[in-house]
Amino acid sequence: MIPLVDLKRQYALIKDEIKQTVDQTIDSMQFINGPQIKAFEAEFARLSGAQHGVGASSGTTALQLALKALDIGPGDEVITVPNTFIATTEAITHSGARVIFADVDERTYNIDPAAVEAAITPKTKAVIGVHLYGQPCDIMAVTAVADRHGLKVIFDSAQAHLAEFGGEPIGRYGDVICYSFYPGKNLGAYGDGGIALTNDEELGRKMFMLADHGRLDKYEHLMEGFNFRLSEVQAAILNVKLKYLPEWTRSRQQCAARYDKMLTELSITPPYRDERCTHVYHLYVIRVPNRDAVKSYLNERGIGAGVHYPICLHLQQAYAHFGHKPGDFPVAERCASEILSLPMFPELTPDDQLTVISTLKEALAACGGSAQHV
Ligand SMILES: Cc1ncc(COP(=O)(O)O)c(C=O)c1O
Repeated sequence: MIPLVDLKRQYALIKDEIKQTVDQTIDSMQFINGPQIKAFEAEFARLSGAQHGVGASSGTTALQLALKALDIGPGDEVITVPNTFIATTEAITHSGARVIFADVDERTYNIDPAAVEAAITPKTKAVIGVHLYGQPCDIMAVTAVADRHGLKVIFDSAQAHLAEFGGEPIGRYGDVICYSFYPGKNLGAYGDGGIALTNDEELGRKMFMLADHGRLDKYEHLMEGFNFRLSEVQAAILNVKLKYLPEWTRSRQQCAARYDKMLTELSITPPYRDERCTHVYHLYVIRVPNRDAVKSYLNERGIGAGVHYPICLHLQQAYAHFGHKPGDFPVAERCASEILSLPMFPELTPDDQLTVISTLKEALAACGGSAQHV
């Protein structure tokens, strides 16, 4: 049995430290906006190359804070991709703005800057680039398009903790950079959590207030906000795990390099890597023919292969009212039918990977067709 993600293996390594910090945090009786949060916001921002960090209750609420702080709302349009988790678009619609999809690059699965430019209208206010699977999107090209048209840029980095672009941590780029600490993420809490990073002090202050009821003081409110605060206990857990994140990221990269090699022997093209980027492999995604049959074959034999994501957002029932149809975003749709995520987590062993690959080889033989090159 090799799951897609194995949180238990990691917990076994850090159990004592986690229990100790949870105990100490509860003993301190400081549950809201305490020292663990402050320390975490500062250290995570520093490691990510940003000047300010605002803890949030999830990646979704971090995106909502970003949009609200950038004054995006009814009448505005925000461009993003159809091949992301629905949280990206939920944040846009909950702000009151309209979601406009742009297709993706076939090799990286990330937003296509030319498609962004083509989707711009006089109502466009912002673009949300998603750093999908742990590989940054083309930050430079997206920013250049946004600058030409006076748009704000948000990066959804929920899957890209510690990723780099052009040798720089990705927290340097964009108006707001949002992360999720959902348990299965590269840095995961033991519950929900998120953070919004920025290099704009004023924006950071505004997001901090918005996350805490627009407070200036306990009962003095400068604006209406939300309760989108990160919990102190989760921040304490994240502080323990953050120390290990660089090491865990290197382990993911080593696992990816091993898969790359094993797959070449199987004639499967390893995931494309943009040379300007440091990929942090939240997911290791390949493309195979007869994907659904291959996935079932693997799952039936205890290999936790997954699909991220099987249905593009423009074809989800939740967005039927947008009026899209199959074929509107052909690259994202083609990818959705072929992609397969293999087990990926820092504690994955070379033996586990050999089992995954040999079962995949059997699956390809059993399900017909050889591997497909992108
Ligand atoms: C790309 C992307 N955006 C946003 C989110 C939302 O994060 P959360 O689950 O912490 O709200 C996730 C993950 O769940 C994600 O993968």
